[in-house]
Amino acid sequence: MTYVIGVDTSTTATKALVIDDAGSVLGVGASSYDYDIPRPTWSEQDPGLWWTATVAAIREAMERAGVDSGFVDGIGMTGQMHGSVLLDGEGEVVRPALLWNDQRTSAECDEIRERVGRELLISTTGNDAITGFTSPKLLWVRNHEPANWARVRTVLLPKDYVRFRLTDDAAVDVAGGSGTGLFDLADRTWSKPILEALELDVELFPQPFEGPEVTGRLTGEAAEATGLTAGTPVFAGGGDQSANAVGVGATRSGIVALSLGTSGVVFATTDGPAIDVEARVQAFCHAVPDRWHMMGVMLSAAGSLRWFRDSLAPAMDFDDLVAGASEVPAGCDGLLFLPYLSGERTPHPDALARGAFVGLTTSHDLRHMTRAVLEGVAFGLRDGLDLMTEAGVPKPESIRASGGGTRSALWRQILADVLEARIDTVTTEEGAAYGAALLASVGAGLHDTVDSAVERTVRAEPAATPGSDADPYRDAHRRYQELYPALRPIFHTGI
Ligand code: XUL
Repeated sequence: MTYVIGVDTSTTATKALVIDDAGSVLGVGASSYDYDIPRPTWSEQDPGLWWTATVAAIREAMERAGVDSGFVDGIGMTGQMHGSVLLDGEGEVVRPALLWNDQRTSAECDEIRERVGRELLISTTGNDAITGFTSPKLLWVRNHEPANWARVRTVLLPKDYVRFRLTDDAAVDVAGGSGTGLFDLADRTWSKPILEALELDVELFPQPFEGPEVTGRLTGEAAEATGLTAGTPVFAGGGDQSANAVGVGATRSGIVALSLGTSGVVFATTDGPAIDVEARVQAFCHAVPDRWHMMGVMLSAAGSLRWFRDSLAPAMDFDDLVAGASEVPAGCDGLLFLPYLSGERTPHPDALARGAFVGLTTSHDLRHMTRAVLEGVAFGLRDGLDLMTEAGVPKPESIRASGGGTRSALWRQILADVLEARIDTVTTEEGAAYGAALLASVGAGLHDTVDSAVERTVRAEPAATPGSDADPYRDAHRRYQELYPALRPIFHTGI
């Protein structure tokens, strides 16, 4: 028997899991940390936290699995995307990493559009300049902290800092690389014209690798820290969204991955680099070689329900709250909820967008408001899916749903009705870490391709099919779509 490990460096914890060659999860370990908010809308993390947590998570996972480290054939990496880890010539961290949810870089996004030209930027990278991406973060440090910038010799993504500590090699996976805003989407490597326009030296950036490729081997020091064997290969893996898609089996066109965590994501695999010319949905390289993906990202999905419960019904648990929502009809007797509580990315890239309940009357109560939240999030996900379909993605045969929000049967049914597609759930709930482990198992030769690995290991079960409510939702969705353009001027007065 041989085994592989998947490591996921997320924003709040590092998770490691050990799987066997049939894809069974034998042991999971996790270690949590916080992120800093030095000022409103800023978000930073000390990369050292990820390394300490990686060591703890790998040790815990291996102990639970009861596996001898000599039988571990490889480690696959995944984690939060877009963050900027800045290293000096000695490999020391220059300053805390700016994370994907940091919003300080609006001026630098304008600078990027000005230097590159918006059209060239979108046609080359697949995306507009986005505050969360890596490129504006680099410009921010250059503009605001020139002394720090002068020391920077290497730029890494968060999970690639962990890789660097494991192997001593600087490397990036193509899925993560394409989330920097500096990649040529079609060529799956750094874009020289974009780097030149931004006056960023290509030498700052690590070599890109496809998901199942080896990027380096465990050093003696890392082996001692983790209890693993020196020389164990480390595979590229992928950014958390594409690794999650592998973990739920969304690796070919026709199967959409939907994740309903704090943020909400709809993710569709494409056989070529499909782009929305207005960049209302994002386009990245997939962790699967020769495939790409489009993605719509809502910033406040299950996060909206959590906010609603915490603010208006703190004594209730989620099950009771959602049970109330099932007592009122689809469409909530005319009540609509706009879920842009943290600004929005898809379909309206607008940091100033805000949430709203619209249509309240005295006949509405907590149950209607809860249901309006569930429906509003589903409408937002439908907007993302429609933009991807407009850009050429085929209508999904099925949608693989994961994340805490999909544990609710009512929310799954609302999603099936609003998205007008079957919702499937998968038996393994380990998401991105599982996908990273599968990519490593392909690299280690346990499976021939990512497709065959997924076929052998991922089991999906139908969880909801579109029913009679699909009709009223079409009408409610149309009214929902009118809200943002109507309210935008008010949002932009700075409420
Ligand atoms: C993807 C994205 C998030 C982060 C954090 O574009 O912003 O998924 O990777 O998980």
